[in-house]
Amino acid sequence: MEIVRDPARIRDVIERLRHQSGRPIGFAPTMGALHEGHLSLIRAIREAGTVPVASIFVNPIQFGPGEDFERYPRPFEKDCERLEAAGVACVFAPASFQMYRPDHTVYVVEERITLGLCGSRRPGHFRGVATVVLKLFNLIRPDLAAFGRKDAQQARLIEKMIEDLNLEIRLLICPIVREADGLAMSSRNSYLGPEARRQALCLFEGLKRAQESYARGERRTNRIREIVIEEIGRRSLARLDYVEGVAWHDMQPVRELGPGTLVAAAVWVEQTRLIDNLWISPDGEPIL
Ligand code: PAJ
Repeated sequence: MEIVRDPARIRDVIERLRHQSGRPIGFAPTMGALHEGHLSLIRAIREAGTVPVASIFVNPIQFGPGEDFERYPRPFEKDCERLEAAGVACVFAPASFQMYRPDHTVYVVEERITLGLCGSRRPGHFRGVATVVLKLFNLIRPDLAAFGRKDAQQARLIEKMIEDLNLEIRLLICPIVREADGLAMSSRNSYLGPEARRQALCLFEGLKRAQESYARGERRTNRIREIVIEEIGRRSLARLDYVEGVAWHDMQPVRELGPGTLVAAAVWVEQTRLIDNLWISPDGEPIL
């Protein structure tokens, strides 16, 4: 597995891989501290018949002031071992100064999908995400890219960026990978102490009750929201950030849930912010 740090070199390395293999390039961008959720993306692009390429870059411009940029876990060697074992051909892992020169002034701003949910709680976050992902797409030039549905608003943003900016990249949006008890895997779960880890399950449990309620026929967003709010309210260390029913296509609030919508939620558990969602697939299946 090749590890490339220098953005000036990555295109040549990828082109060589493309020609040597005769296969398209599949790409999974990450910030490292890898878990099974990340590895599921690698598996998905490999199974699609592409040469798997990953990036590890803790992108400073998607973190707000006071967020966890400095303390974000960076177990680089362990991450590389896991990527190599997963069959990744090349890891792109630039330093911040190599991605952003001091005179960087151009950003990608989306003006509808990113207004609500995490977008309104983390100003500038999605501008940072869209900008870095477009830069990574331009450097790697993948044919296929994989993102997780755990970060639903982010996945929809990337899908929309591909549409609106005419990028020739096929997008795979992969299912949420969970711990045995249901907690969505996240690099940030490592911040949780034992009691916080137990209480963090309220997010999944609230959404699971919402799923059951949907399956029994409940469609009113307000009723479903109450269910999630109630479940979170029962934990002393957890504080609701938001829970909303939105349409997948524009991430705007809906009064009624149905195919192509989702219930997206974020909670603070002590100092750690976690997100999760219940997706109603186009054929009406409520999927956690
Ligand atoms: P990161 O949080 O490292 O996530 C990288 C990718 O893994 C994202 O597409 C995310 O949705 C996916 N992922 C994370 N947890 C998952 C889970 N439990 N199940 C399935 N997929 C999961 O998201 C980012 O990094 C950054 O914003 C990035 C896109 C790399 C831009 O900096």
